[in-house]
Amino acid sequence: MKEFDILALGELNVDLLLNRIAGFPEVGKEIFAEDMVLALGSSTGIFAANSSSLGAKVTFVGMIGKDQFGQLVRDSLKARGVDVSNLIQTESAATGLTALLNYDNDRAAVTYPGAMSLMGCKDINPDAIAKASHVHISSVFLQQTLHDQLFEIVSMVKAQGVTLSMDVQFDPAEKWDFDYKKILPLVDIFMPNEQELTCITGKPTVEEAVAEIRPYLRNMAVVKMGTKGSLLVTPEGDRRVAAILNPSVVDAIGAGDSFDAGFITAFVRGKSPAACQDMGNLTGAVNTTAAGGTGAFASLEAFREAAMKHFGCTPDL
Ligand SMILES: Nc1ncnc2c1ncn2[C@@H]1O[C@H](COP(=O)(O)OP(=O)(O)O)[C@@H](O)[C@H]1O
Ligand SMILES: [Mg+2]
Repeated sequence: MKEFDILALGELNVDLLLNRIAGFPEVGKEIFAEDMVLALGSSTGIFAANSSSLGAKVTFVGMIGKDQFGQLVRDSLKARGVDVSNLIQTESAATGLTALLNYDNDRAAVTYPGAMSLMGCKDINPDAIAKASHVHISSVFLQQTLHDQLFEIVSMVKAQGVTLSMDVQFDPAEKWDFDYKKILPLVDIFMPNEQELTCITGKPTVEEAVAEIRPYLRNMAVVKMGTKGSLLVTPEGDRRVAAILNPSVVDAIGAGDSFDAGFITAFVRGKSPAACQDMGNLTGAVNTTAAGGTGAFASLEAFREAAMKHFGCTPDL
Protein backbone atom coordinates (compact mmCIF):
# COMPACT_ATOMS: atom_id res chain seq x y z
CA MET A 1 0.00 0.00 0.00
CA LYS A 2 1.34 3.42 -0.99
CA GLU A 3 0.87 6.44 1.26
CA PHE A 4 -0.99 8.37 -1.47
CA ASP A 5 -3.40 7.32 -4.23
CA ILE A 6 -2.61 10.34 -6.38
CA LEU A 7 0.29 12.78 -6.64
CA ALA A 8 -0.66 15.93 -8.55
CA LEU A 9 2.34 17.48 -10.29
CA GLY A 10 1.77 20.91 -11.75
CA GLU A 11 1.07 24.58 -11.39
CA LEU A 12 -0.30 26.39 -8.40
CA ASN A 13 -1.65 29.91 -8.37
CA VAL A 14 -4.33 32.11 -6.91
CA ASP A 15 -7.23 33.53 -8.90
CA LEU A 16 -8.28 37.11 -8.34
CA LEU A 17 -11.80 37.30 -9.77
CA LEU A 18 -13.37 40.66 -10.49
CA ASN A 19 -17.06 40.13 -11.18
CA ARG A 20 -19.92 42.32 -12.38
CA ILE A 21 -17.74 44.97 -14.00
CA ALA A 22 -19.31 48.03 -15.56
CA GLY A 23 -17.90 47.63 -19.10
CA PHE A 24 -14.45 46.89 -20.43
CA PRO A 25 -11.62 48.73 -18.64
CA GLU A 26 -9.78 51.30 -20.75
CA VAL A 27 -6.19 52.44 -20.41
CA GLY A 28 -6.05 55.64 -18.38
CA LYS A 29 -9.49 55.14 -16.82
CA GLU A 30 -10.93 53.38 -13.76
CA ILE A 31 -14.16 51.43 -13.29
CA PHE A 32 -15.84 49.46 -10.49
CA ALA A 33 -16.29 45.71 -10.07
CA GLU A 34 -19.26 44.91 -7.82
CA ASP A 35 -17.80 41.64 -6.55
CA MET A 36 -14.30 40.28 -5.79
CA VAL A 37 -13.09 36.79 -4.89
CA LEU A 38 -9.53 35.68 -4.09
CA ALA A 39 -9.21 31.89 -4.15
CA LEU A 40 -7.11 28.87 -5.11
CA GLY A 41 -6.80 28.75 -8.90
CA SER A 42 -4.84 26.58 -11.34
CA SER A 43 -6.03 23.48 -13.14
CA THR A 44 -3.77 21.15 -11.20
CA GLY A 45 -4.86 22.78 -7.93
CA ILE A 46 -8.54 22.26 -8.79
CA PHE A 47 -7.84 18.67 -9.85
CA ALA A 48 -6.08 17.92 -6.55
CA ALA A 49 -8.69 19.59 -4.34
CA ASN A 50 -11.59 17.81 -6.07
CA SER A 51 -9.90 14.39 -6.18
CA SER A 52 -9.35 14.71 -2.45
CA SER A 53 -13.00 15.64 -1.87
CA LEU A 54 -14.02 12.60 -3.91
CA GLY A 55 -12.13 10.44 -1.41
CA ALA A 56 -8.67 9.91 -2.91
CA LYS A 57 -5.54 10.38 -0.76
CA VAL A 58 -3.78 13.19 -2.61
CA THR A 59 -0.41 14.93 -2.33
CA PHE A 60 0.92 17.81 -4.41
CA VAL A 61 4.30 18.61 -5.96
CA GLY A 62 4.28 22.22 -7.16
CA MET A 63 6.15 25.46 -6.63
CA ILE A 64 4.98 28.51 -4.70
CA GLY A 65 6.74 31.67 -3.50
CA LYS A 66 7.53 32.59 0.09
CA ASP A 67 4.60 34.99 0.29
CA GLN A 68 0.99 35.38 1.42
CA PHE A 69 -0.45 34.02 -1.83
CA GLY A 70 1.72 30.92 -1.36
CA GLN A 71 0.23 30.60 2.11
CA LEU A 72 -3.29 30.94 0.65
CA VAL A 73 -2.54 28.13 -1.82
CA ARG A 74 -1.18 25.95 0.99
CA ASP A 75 -4.14 26.63 3.30
CA SER A 76 -6.71 26.05 0.52
CA LEU A 77 -5.22 22.68 -0.43
CA LYS A 78 -4.97 21.68 3.23
CA ALA A 79 -8.59 22.67 3.84
CA ARG A 80 -9.57 20.14 1.15
CA GLY A 81 -7.47 17.41 2.75
CA VAL A 82 -4.60 17.56 0.23
CA ASP A 83 -1.17 16.75 1.71
CA VAL A 84 1.07 19.83 1.38
CA SER A 85 4.33 18.36 2.69
CA ASN A 86 5.75 18.06 -0.86
CA LEU A 87 5.09 21.68 -1.92
CA ILE A 88 8.27 23.50 -2.94
CA GLN A 89 8.87 27.09 -1.83
CA THR A 90 11.20 29.26 -3.86
CA GLU A 91 12.91 32.54 -3.00
CA SER A 92 13.34 33.30 -6.70
CA ALA A 93 9.78 34.28 -7.67
CA ALA A 94 6.42 35.19 -6.19
CA THR A 95 3.46 32.79 -6.24
CA GLY A 96 1.65 32.86 -9.57
CA LEU A 97 -1.59 34.80 -9.94
CA THR A 98 -4.35 35.02 -12.54
CA ALA A 99 -6.49 38.16 -12.60
CA LEU A 100 -9.85 37.38 -14.20
CA LEU A 101 -12.28 40.03 -15.36
CA ASN A 102 -15.74 38.51 -15.71
CA TYR A 103 -18.47 40.10 -17.82
CA ASP A 104 -21.74 38.25 -18.36
CA ASN A 105 -20.57 35.03 -20.00
CA ASP A 106 -17.17 36.20 -21.16
CA ARG A 107 -13.93 36.87 -19.41
CA ALA A 108 -10.49 38.31 -19.91
CA ALA A 109 -7.55 36.95 -17.94
CA VAL A 110 -3.96 37.94 -17.26
CA THR A 111 -1.58 35.44 -15.65
CA TYR A 112 1.67 36.17 -13.86
CA PRO A 113 3.25 32.68 -13.84
CA GLY A 114 5.88 33.42 -11.18
CA ALA A 115 7.03 30.39 -9.19
CA MET A 116 5.15 27.91 -11.40
CA SER A 117 7.49 28.64 -14.32
CA LEU A 118 10.61 27.64 -12.35
CA MET A 119 9.88 24.04 -11.28
CA GLY A 120 12.17 21.62 -13.10
CA CYS A 121 13.34 18.01 -12.85
CA LYS A 122 15.96 18.72 -10.15
CA ASP A 123 13.27 20.19 -7.85
CA ILE A 124 11.13 17.06 -7.95
CA ASN A 125 12.04 14.49 -5.32
CA PRO A 126 11.83 10.94 -6.74
CA ASP A 127 11.15 9.63 -3.20
CA ALA A 128 8.00 11.77 -3.04
CA ILE A 129 6.84 10.33 -6.39
CA ALA A 130 7.43 6.79 -5.13
CA LYS A 131 4.99 7.40 -2.23
CA ALA A 132 2.04 7.55 -4.66
CA SER A 133 0.35 4.91 -6.83
CA HIS A 134 -0.57 7.36 -9.56
CA VAL A 135 0.82 10.70 -10.82
CA HIS A 136 -1.23 13.31 -12.70
CA ILE A 137 0.64 16.03 -14.61
CA SER A 138 -1.28 19.02 -15.90
CA SER A 139 -0.75 22.34 -17.69
CA VAL A 140 2.46 21.51 -19.53
CA PHE A 141 2.51 24.72 -21.59
CA LEU A 142 1.96 27.06 -18.62
CA GLN A 143 5.10 25.93 -16.79
CA GLN A 144 8.19 26.98 -18.73
CA THR A 145 10.85 24.82 -17.07
CA LEU A 146 8.56 21.78 -16.78
CA HIS A 147 7.74 22.18 -20.49
CA ASP A 148 11.42 22.38 -21.46
CA GLN A 149 12.26 19.28 -19.37
CA LEU A 150 9.04 17.33 -19.91
CA PHE A 151 10.59 14.15 -21.29
CA GLU A 152 13.17 14.04 -18.50
CA ILE A 153 10.48 14.62 -15.85
CA VAL A 154 8.05 12.05 -17.28
CA SER A 155 10.86 9.48 -17.56
CA MET A 156 11.89 10.08 -13.94
CA VAL A 157 8.26 9.80 -12.77
CA LYS A 158 7.66 6.54 -14.64
CA ALA A 159 10.92 5.10 -13.25
CA GLN A 160 9.25 5.19 -9.80
CA GLY A 161 6.76 2.51 -10.84
CA VAL A 162 3.63 4.64 -10.90
CA THR A 163 0.82 4.99 -13.43
CA LEU A 164 0.73 8.40 -15.10
CA SER A 165 -2.01 10.62 -16.52
CA MET A 166 -1.53 13.91 -18.34
CA ASP A 167 -3.78 16.83 -19.25
CA VAL A 168 -1.86 19.29 -21.43
CA GLN A 169 -4.26 22.29 -21.09
CA PHE A 170 -4.23 25.38 -23.29
CA ASP A 171 -1.02 26.85 -24.68
CA PRO A 172 -1.07 30.62 -24.09
CA ALA A 173 1.72 30.97 -26.69
CA GLU A 174 -0.41 28.88 -29.13
CA LYS A 175 2.72 27.15 -30.43
CA TRP A 176 1.53 23.72 -29.22
CA ASP A 177 5.06 22.40 -28.99
CA PHE A 178 4.40 18.91 -27.59
CA ASP A 179 6.44 15.95 -28.83
CA TYR A 180 3.60 13.40 -28.55
CA LYS A 181 5.62 10.70 -30.32
CA LYS A 182 8.18 10.81 -27.52
CA ILE A 183 5.95 11.64 -24.50
CA LEU A 184 2.77 9.58 -25.05
CA PRO A 185 4.49 6.16 -24.86
CA LEU A 186 5.18 7.03 -21.20
CA VAL A 187 1.65 8.27 -20.38
CA ASP A 188 -0.93 5.69 -19.29
CA ILE A 189 -3.95 8.00 -19.58
CA PHE A 190 -3.80 11.00 -21.91
CA MET A 191 -6.56 13.55 -21.17
CA PRO A 192 -6.66 16.51 -23.59
CA ASN A 193 -9.76 18.39 -24.69
CA GLU A 194 -10.86 18.51 -28.33
CA GLN A 195 -9.08 21.78 -29.11
CA GLU A 196 -5.83 20.81 -27.41
CA LEU A 197 -5.71 17.45 -29.22
CA THR A 198 -6.31 18.93 -32.68
CA CYS A 199 -3.77 21.71 -32.04
CA ILE A 200 -0.93 19.47 -30.86
CA THR A 201 -1.43 17.04 -33.76
CA GLY A 202 -2.16 19.72 -36.36
CA LYS A 203 -5.18 17.69 -37.54
CA PRO A 204 -8.50 19.35 -38.34
CA THR A 205 -10.85 16.83 -36.67
CA VAL A 206 -10.89 14.78 -33.46
CA GLU A 207 -11.13 11.57 -35.53
CA GLU A 208 -7.97 12.36 -37.49
CA ALA A 209 -6.17 13.57 -34.37
CA VAL A 210 -7.05 10.33 -32.53
CA ALA A 211 -5.77 8.28 -35.49
CA GLU A 212 -2.53 10.28 -35.34
CA ILE A 213 -1.85 9.66 -31.61
CA ARG A 214 -3.18 6.08 -31.41
CA PRO A 215 0.10 4.36 -32.34
CA TYR A 216 1.90 6.21 -29.53
CA LEU A 217 -0.59 5.56 -26.72
CA ARG A 218 0.76 3.50 -23.84
CA ASN A 219 -2.71 2.54 -22.68
CA MET A 220 -5.66 4.91 -23.20
CA ALA A 221 -6.73 8.46 -23.98
CA VAL A 222 -9.90 10.33 -23.15
CA VAL A 223 -10.84 13.40 -25.15
CA LYS A 224 -13.08 15.95 -23.40
CA MET A 225 -15.60 17.63 -25.66
CA GLY A 226 -17.54 20.07 -23.50
CA THR A 227 -21.31 19.79 -23.97
CA LYS A 228 -20.70 16.95 -26.46
CA GLY A 229 -19.30 14.73 -23.68
CA SER A 230 -16.16 12.64 -24.09
CA LEU A 231 -14.46 10.04 -26.25
CA LEU A 232 -12.54 7.18 -24.65
CA VAL A 233 -9.80 5.62 -26.78
CA THR A 234 -8.52 2.19 -25.71
CA PRO A 235 -6.77 -0.72 -27.43
CA GLU A 236 -10.09 -2.62 -27.11
CA GLY A 237 -12.04 0.06 -28.94
CA ASP A 238 -13.43 3.57 -28.61
CA ARG A 239 -16.42 4.72 -26.58
CA ARG A 240 -18.29 7.94 -27.04
CA VAL A 241 -20.42 9.19 -24.14
CA ALA A 242 -22.79 12.16 -24.36
CA ALA A 243 -22.49 14.85 -21.69
CA ILE A 244 -24.90 14.70 -18.77
CA LEU A 245 -26.32 18.02 -19.86
CA ASN A 246 -26.86 20.69 -17.26
CA PRO A 247 -29.71 22.93 -18.41
CA SER A 248 -28.70 25.72 -16.03
CA VAL A 249 -24.93 26.02 -16.14
CA VAL A 250 -23.50 28.40 -13.52
CA ASP A 251 -20.10 28.38 -15.22
CA ALA A 252 -17.84 25.79 -16.82
CA ILE A 253 -14.61 26.93 -15.13
CA GLY A 254 -12.63 23.81 -14.23
CA ALA A 255 -15.08 21.33 -15.83
CA GLY A 256 -12.17 19.54 -17.49
CA ASP A 257 -10.20 19.43 -14.24
CA SER A 258 -13.22 18.02 -12.41
CA PHE A 259 -13.66 15.47 -15.20
CA ASP A 260 -10.01 14.45 -14.65
CA ALA A 261 -10.58 14.25 -10.87
CA GLY A 262 -13.57 11.92 -11.26
CA PHE A 263 -11.89 9.77 -13.92
CA ILE A 264 -8.62 9.38 -12.00
CA THR A 265 -10.26 8.82 -8.60
CA ALA A 266 -12.26 5.96 -10.19
CA PHE A 267 -9.07 4.70 -11.89
CA VAL A 268 -7.09 4.46 -8.64
CA ARG A 269 -10.05 2.57 -7.17
CA GLY A 270 -9.52 -0.05 -9.87
CA LYS A 271 -12.66 0.77 -11.93
CA SER A 272 -12.89 -0.17 -15.61
CA PRO A 273 -12.00 2.48 -18.23
CA ALA A 274 -15.71 2.85 -19.13
CA ALA A 275 -16.65 3.35 -15.45
CA CYS A 276 -13.85 5.93 -15.13
CA GLN A 277 -15.21 7.77 -18.17
CA ASP A 278 -18.75 7.75 -16.76
CA MET A 279 -17.46 9.13 -13.46
CA GLY A 280 -15.54 11.88 -15.32
CA ASN A 281 -18.65 12.81 -17.25
CA LEU A 282 -20.59 13.07 -14.01
CA THR A 283 -17.97 15.10 -12.13
CA GLY A 284 -17.58 17.38 -15.18
CA ALA A 285 -21.34 17.95 -15.21
CA VAL A 286 -21.57 18.50 -11.44
CA ASN A 287 -18.73 21.05 -11.75
CA THR A 288 -21.04 23.25 -13.85
CA THR A 289 -23.71 23.43 -11.11
CA ALA A 290 -21.72 25.80 -8.84
CA ALA A 291 -19.38 28.76 -9.27
CA GLY A 292 -15.71 28.14 -10.07
CA GLY A 293 -13.80 24.87 -10.33
CA THR A 294 -14.17 23.65 -6.76
CA GLY A 295 -17.55 25.09 -5.71
CA ALA A 296 -19.50 21.87 -6.22
CA PHE A 297 -16.94 19.69 -4.43
CA ALA A 298 -16.74 21.08 -0.91
CA SER A 299 -17.08 17.51 0.38
CA LEU A 300 -18.01 14.04 -0.84
CA GLU A 301 -21.47 14.59 0.64
CA ALA A 302 -21.92 17.90 -1.21
CA PHE A 303 -20.89 16.21 -4.48
CA ARG A 304 -23.29 13.29 -3.89
CA GLU A 305 -26.16 15.67 -3.12
CA ALA A 306 -25.49 17.77 -6.24
CA ALA A 307 -25.26 14.63 -8.42
CA MET A 308 -28.65 13.48 -7.10
CA LYS A 309 -30.37 16.87 -7.12
CA HIS A 310 -29.30 17.98 -10.60
CA PHE A 311 -28.89 14.70 -12.48
CA GLY A 312 -30.65 12.00 -10.41
CA CYS A 313 -27.36 10.05 -10.17
CA THR A 314 -25.91 8.07 -7.27
CA PRO A 315 -22.13 8.10 -7.84
CA ASP A 316 -20.34 4.79 -7.38
CA LEU A 317 -17.49 6.10 -5.22
N1 LIG B 1 -22.44 22.37 -19.90
C1 LIG B 1 -22.07 21.15 -19.50
N2 LIG B 1 -23.00 20.27 -19.03
C2 LIG B 1 -22.62 19.06 -18.60
N3 LIG B 1 -21.37 18.60 -18.63
C3 LIG B 1 -20.41 19.40 -19.09
C4 LIG B 1 -20.69 20.72 -19.55
N4 LIG B 1 -19.52 21.31 -19.92
C5 LIG B 1 -18.56 20.36 -19.71
N5 LIG B 1 -19.09 19.23 -19.21
C6 LIG B 1 -18.39 17.98 -18.86
O1 LIG B 1 -17.08 18.30 -18.44
C7 LIG B 1 -16.14 17.68 -19.31
C8 LIG B 1 -14.95 18.56 -19.50
O2 LIG B 1 -15.31 19.79 -20.07
P1 LIG B 1 -14.48 20.40 -21.29
O3 LIG B 1 -15.01 21.77 -21.49
O4 LIG B 1 -14.52 19.47 -22.43
O5 LIG B 1 -13.00 20.40 -20.71
P2 LIG B 1 -11.95 21.57 -20.51
O6 LIG B 1 -12.49 22.35 -19.35
O7 LIG B 1 -10.68 20.88 -20.20
O8 LIG B 1 -11.96 22.33 -21.79
C9 LIG B 1 -16.88 17.35 -20.58
O9 LIG B 1 -16.29 16.22 -21.22
C10 LIG B 1 -18.28 17.06 -20.06
O10 LIG B 1 -18.35 15.72 -19.60
MG1 LIG C 1 -8.85 21.50 -19.53
